[in-house]
Amino acid sequence: MKIEKVGVVGCGLMGHGIVQIAAQGGHQVIAMELDQGALDKGVARIEKSLAKLAGKAVEKGKQTEEEAQAWVAEVRGRITPSTDPASLTDCDLVVEAIVENLDVKKAFFAQLGQDVKPGAIFASNTSSFPVGEMAEASGRPERFVGLHFFNPVQLMRLVEVVRTDATDDEVFAAARAFGEACGKTPVGCKDTPGFVVNRLLVPYMVQAIQMLDRGDASKEDIDTAMQLGCGYPMGPLTLTDYVGLDTTLFILQGWTDRYPSDPAFAIPESLTQKVAEGKLGRKTGEGYYVWEGDKKS
Ligand code: 3HC
Repeated sequence: MKIEKVGVVGCGLMGHGIVQIAAQGGHQVIAMELDQGALDKGVARIEKSLAKLAGKAVEKGKQTEEEAQAWVAEVRGRITPSTDPASLTDCDLVVEAIVENLDVKKAFFAQLGQDVKPGAIFASNTSSFPVGEMAEASGRPERFVGLHFFNPVQLMRLVEVVRTDATDDEVFAAARAFGEACGKTPVGCKDTPGFVVNRLLVPYMVQAIQMLDRGDASKEDIDTAMQLGCGYPMGPLTLTDYVGLDTTLFILQGWTDRYPSDPAFAIPESLTQKVAEGKLGRKTGEGYYVWEGDKKS
């Protein structure tokens, strides 16, 4: 089962990165967004990221300036931006990275199942919803997996490949191979809440927020403690800002709806409050920290 042409639907924080690494991995990629403005923004992010990676390769002496520019042009040339869902019909794999709303995703996959060639594999980048429910909605549950990438997609080396009870072995193997072709290390996991990473990471972020809310330590000290005490690249509150407070809250809400008595998923008050105030983290300029672009002030 060879994956050559890939459709990525949604060109936001995660989607633009998935488009880019799929193209870097040699695939022809349709970058699909219904909204032209959102599509343009996603493509601009890809171009910025490619320029950064090329600059780094030259700086480190891995490529000459000409080689780096040729690489950028080659990768960019494999990406076809589109606002037309019909452009997905002959894709071998379609990866969904649209809004984290289960009803919207199920409706999307129900339509995709009608429109895209029968042999194609479908994947969702969901971080919190049951993959099996989307698989059922698609009408082809045996050809459906979760492909959960991490932010920033271009730099994080992992992809979780999630299989449901219905996923064909051959489809699972092809999805893992796709992850490897994109330069990632795949780990397999079952369709459980949060898979491996978020099931461990999000309760940890919740504990850090609760520690801050109780006044046990300052945010800077909590973050420094985990960076220097455990060697983590970012402390948990910086990471919450980086992931997005809204995303963190959506994940927790999805879990508390399904598992209301699990204390690991309890939603901290300050998280709900900040999201209500539009303080969503780095992307809005304020979350637990105040941000100026990529830097905390
Ligand atoms: N494309 C290309 N280059 C990029 C980039 C991108 N998208 N993002 C950052 N870079 C560059 C930076 O510009 C920087 O370049 P420079 O050295 O020229 O300034 C370089 O990469 C390194 O970045 P930083 O200087 O910020 O240095 P770090 O060494 O701290 O690396 C990091 C950044 C890789 C993000 C690191 O801090 C890290 O690993 N943080 C943890 C991230 C994490 O845990 N992600 C998972 C979140 S959970 C998730 O995604 C799941 C979801 O479902 C919630």
